Amino acid sequence: MNPINHVAIIMDGNGRWGLKQKKSRNAGHKAGLKSVERIIKKSIEYNIKFLTLFAFSTENWKRPKKEIDYLFNLLESFLISRIDEFDKQDIKFKVIGKKNFSKKLNLLLNSAEKKTSKNSKIQINLALNYGSKFELVNAFKKIIKNNINIDEKNIEKFLYTKNIPNPDILIRTGNTKRLSNFLLWQIAYSEIFFEKKLWPDFNETDYSKIINKFKKVKRNYGNI
Ligand code: IPE
Ligand code: IPE
Ligand code: MG
Repeated sequence: MNPINHVAIIMDGNGRWGLKQKKSRNAGHKAGLKSVERIIKKSIEYNIKFLTLFAFSTENWKRPKKEIDYLFNLLESFLISRIDEFDKQDIKFKVIGKKNFSKKLNLLLNSAEKKTSKNSKIQINLALNYGSKFELVNAFKKIIKNNINIDEKNIEKFLYTKNIPNPDILIRTGNTKRLSNFLLWQIAYSEIFFEKKLWPDFNETDYSKIINKFKKVKRNYGNI
């Protein structure tokens, strides 16, 4: 049985879910938070040590301002209302991505990271303004600036995911089979599961099914 250290999820399909319910795309984003809560809880039950959630990509800035504003307001109020509880549950919170948001949100994110930095039950990496290509370009720039040897170990030292093991499992909900610039380096040997359900419909049973499938996979890493 394969051990699971790290699950990464591309939480896709919120907008379509909202429209399917004859509501707005934003209603889908709101409903998506319930799935986030469910999957965090279940990950703790499974004793998974790292959960990385893709919440906003470097390309998502192309969306209408109204939707972007809604998403960041939602995140703000989610953090304000949940961070103490996460802290009590021994959850460590970390942002991966460039924190160039409003002053208020930047402060909030930094303080959530600081407050939970010693926690160890599970680490939640929230990928926000995250793009894999941006992350890699920056890593190379820093390596060159510091006149360091370009090798795998050194590249990894300059990624947001420094000190985080590579994902064992990558899940993308929302019935789309693409990576959308997510963790391209880190998922070199991850097992990938494309899930038809939209993110707000994704539940504990769906998650367990994926985990059970993963446990039985033969991971070769090039060997036989
Ligand atoms: C994913 O859901 C969440 C974010 C990108 C913020 P979408 O908003 O992409 O939902 P669909 O794919 O349009 O349905
Ligand atoms: C990927 O979903 C990003 C997040 C889930 C945050 P998108 O909906 O942005 O991906 P594309 O644009 O369909 O590839
Ligand atoms: Mg989408």
